[in-house]
Amino acid sequence: MNNKIILASLIALLLSSSLAQQTNPNHTLEALTAYNQWRNHNPRVFINEAEKQYRQSVFLENFQKIKEHNSNSANTYQQGFNQFSDMTQEEFVQKILMSNSQAQSSQPSSQSSSNNLGLTASTSTIATSIDWRAKGAVTPVKNQGNCGSCWAFSSTGSMESFNYIKNNVLQSFSEQQLVDCVTTSNGYYSYGCNGGSYYQAFLYASRVGMKSESAYPYTAIWGSCKVSGTSNGYKPVSFVSVGQNTLALQTALNASPVSVAIDATNLSLYTSGVYNGCNPQYINLNHAVLAVGYDAQGNWIIKNSWGASWGQQGYFLLAPNNTCGILDNPQQITA
Ligand SMILES: *[C@@H]1O[C@H](CO)[C@@H](O)[C@H](O)[C@H]1NC(C)=O
Ligand SMILES: *[C@@H]1O[C@H](CO)[C@@H](O)[C@H](O)[C@H]1NC(C)=O
Ligand SMILES: *[C@@H]1O[C@H](CO)[C@@H](O)[C@H](O)[C@H]1NC(C)=O
Repeated sequence: MNNKIILASLIALLLSSSLAQQTNPNHTLEALTAYNQWRNHNPRVFINEAEKQYRQSVFLENFQKIKEHNSNSANTYQQGFNQFSDMTQEEFVQKILMSNSQAQSSQPSSQSSSNNLGLTASTSTIATSIDWRAKGAVTPVKNQGNCGSCWAFSSTGSMESFNYIKNNVLQSFSEQQLVDCVTTSNGYYSYGCNGGSYYQAFLYASRVGMKSESAYPYTAIWGSCKVSGTSNGYKPVSFVSVGQNTLALQTALNASPVSVAIDATNLSLYTSGVYNGCNPQYINLNHAVLAVGYDAQGNWIIKNSWGASWGQQGYFLLAPNNTCGILDNPQQITA
């Protein structure tokens, strides 16, 4: 980026006395250089100079947090820059994640629809590791944009992979159809860009059928439902709650990828390593994703919906067992 712009920004910062007092000028130059490099890859349109300055200050705060996080060798995962780098954590939670009640609304209780997956399995019958990507059963990573539609991406992910495993067709399905049509006005408990439920999406898809991604493209805006009738394409026939323990989810993952909900409050700046940034005492299931396997150490392999440049080519590893609540509400298509 242009050195004049860096210099001008640096002077502007130094003139702002409150910042200058508490900032190491070397770090400031390093941070400003990082900001300008980041802006080259993350175009932003600002309504005015104040907003521009504010976004820059948020980035610089995140820059310091990332440096601190990465310099702590006790951390099992690294942080870095991506599309969320100029968002505060509060904004990220509000705009990209879902509120707890929406994530869990109208899921059957695990008692009422839990199947026996895992209860009869023994560790000897499941693989020591599995990764459905290696079997060609997972579509490319998608991007939900500024819309709390993670639940729709988790749902299409499960349906795409199950359709491949059952019918040998890897077809991308329409998240926009789910966002627009799985709504209270259609008799479902989901709220478009404000959050929703993969259970409700499976229920809808089993009745109405799924359009392809290209037939009903993604807009990241909650619009009106443009689907009618009941023969619109692929329909899941049955789906179940997976038992809430490690062996049950591993057993389920030996059959196909599984839709899961997690607490993603601290996940935005993840770049690599094994994520475990949740307080186990305060789990709030605010993000739906797709578990596509587990590695030999028991880490869950997770497909996210924040684009392929986020994390590890769009994926992340989640620490074993019930990290971030992953075992609290897994749902799997079984036919
Ligand atoms: C800034 O960097 C220079 C050169 O690397 C170094 O001599 C100086 O001590 C640094 N200042 C601070 C405050 O870290
Ligand atoms: C996010 O990380 C911070 C700092 O490590 C921690 O105190 C907090 O509990 C975490 N938040 C959640 C929701 O897990
Ligand atoms: C996961 O749980 C199993 C048994 O419940 C335990 O043996 C193992 O140590 C746990 N792994 C981690 C990383 O906590």
